[in-house]
Amino acid sequence: MKGLVLSGGAGSRLRPITYTGAKQLVPVANRPILFFVIDNLVGAGIVDIGVVISPETGSEVRAALGDGSRWNAKFSYIVQERPAGLAHAVLVARDFLGSDDFCMYLGDNLIGSPIRPAVEAFAARPEVSASVMLKEVPNPRAFGVAVLDASGRIAQLIEKPEHPPSNLALVGVYLFRSASVFSAISEIKPSPRGELEITDTLARILARGEIVHHDIVTSWWLDTGKKDDLLLANETVLDAWAVAEVRGVVDGASRVTGRVSIAEGAVVERSTIRGPVVIGAGARVVDSNIGPFTSIGPEVTVLRSGIDRSVLMEGCLVEDIARLEDSLLGRRVRVRPGDARAGAIVLLVGDDCLIEFARTS
Ligand code: G1P
Repeated sequence: MKGLVLSGGAGSRLRPITYTGAKQLVPVANRPILFFVIDNLVGAGIVDIGVVISPETGSEVRAALGDGSRWNAKFSYIVQERPAGLAHAVLVARDFLGSDDFCMYLGDNLIGSPIRPAVEAFAARPEVSASVMLKEVPNPRAFGVAVLDASGRIAQLIEKPEHPPSNLALVGVYLFRSASVFSAISEIKPSPRGELEITDTLARILARGEIVHHDIVTSWWLDTGKKDDLLLANETVLDAWAVAEVRGVVDGASRVTGRVSIAEGAVVERSTIRGPVVIGAGARVVDSNIGPFTSIGPEVTVLRSGIDRSVLMEGCLVEDIARLEDSLLGRRVRVRPGDARAGAIVLLVGDDCLIEFARTS
């Protein structure tokens, strides 16, 4: 079986971070989301993997993933010229996929459990044309939604319904047989948002009387496309997988509690770190309180500040900020107080930023 990882798209819901980088490379627990995706595929024995990239962020994705040897896998890169839908991405990958069965995995989806059992079950049942994963969510309007019939089989699949008939969302991991999926895609039309939808493709497969199997995901599942979802992903991954491992230097005046991972070359002085927290290589934390649920990227400097439930990407500097929380800072962002006597703040920010100051009254 082959793997198809979708790592294109504009990432519009994560702007401004995604103006300068791919959304699939935003880190949670200091690791790009995409790495967790590859881990899960490789863990299921899928090592021949096509990665669909966009012209805008493709080179960055390629540089981060390499040729696959780090995972003992083989990656082929496939450029999708425009974000014309998930089913369009499958069409673009036609030469790579050939006539093989494949697992399509959206590069911004994080799942708390291995996909291996679903992959093995699909391989063992040739009469099943496609297999999907479903998860109950509180906001089904944001997803593809499945309706089950009385016998528990999928009766209907609808992409982002205005009035969701169920709260079972389609998780971004799909198993397909090439012949079935390509013939179904040839029969669908672009959706109202102008995209060839994979949900419509699955609905087409169902309508032809073919079997679409489903598994209910019982672990956590997160689509990391927005800031709050990404912070929740960071929290969840840290909670589930963070380990206590101090390789950097922590001075005697600091206190480190819980699962805190401090990479080599990082320095912690006169600070309190409350896990789960990860601190990247070369970071410096001085006279500060960090955590819980915080990822401090490599080469980040935090001076005289308090930070919790946040992700700080590589090279940030935070100085004299009493409390920074629920924040996502892109690379090399600097946060520091202005001159209070001036009675004004001075900002240099990109489009679509959100800036919230605590009320002082
Ligand atoms: C896509 C699919 C949707 C699915 C979701 C999972 O939505 O179209 O059916 O539920 O991924 O993450 P998108 O994130 O592209 O809006």
